[in-house]
Amino acid sequence: MNSIFGATRIGQALHTEHMRTMEHLDALESLIASRRPPAPEAATATLEGIARALDEDVTRHFAFEEEHLFPRLHDAGAGFMVDMLTGEHAEIRPLAESLRDACRALAGGGFDANLWESFRADARDLIDRETFHIQKEEMGLLAALSQVLDAEEDGALADRHAALTAE
Ligand SMILES: [Fe+2]
Ligand SMILES: [Fe+2]
Repeated sequence: MNSIFGATRIGQALHTEHMRTMEHLDALESLIASRRPPAPEAATATLEGIARALDEDVTRHFAFEEEHLFPRLHDAGAGFMVDMLTGEHAEIRPLAESLRDACRALAGGGFDANLWESFRADARDLIDRETFHIQKEEMGLLAALSQVLDAEEDGALADRHAALTAE
């Protein structure tokens, strides 16, 4: 029997992306664990990876949910959940974009003590919000999709998602 996340193909694809985002948030959490700024050479690859992951998440992943999934769920009566998730996207997007830009600016360079403290605080805020958001989608959104989509719609969405991912 499928797990609840695997009940739809599109749900499985989103679940995979959520887990990938969580891996990068874990890497970010490890990076900010120390109160002392990391050496540039030790942090550059991690910062670049995190910047790429944040960019993917708040552009393609968020947009796919907003354009292709939220309207269907709204029409199916899940307006309350959709409004909540849309509001979280609106809060997370500028935080993630600003942290992405900071990661790119700092990759290869260094942090002074003040910059490191503000980067850590911003990263902590983003990790908390994004983790909470993903948990909610894993529990609510993915389960709702399996109730709302028939096999044909699910297949069409999964193909569309795969095509966008491959671009
Ligand atoms: Fe989302
Ligand atoms: Fe998501």
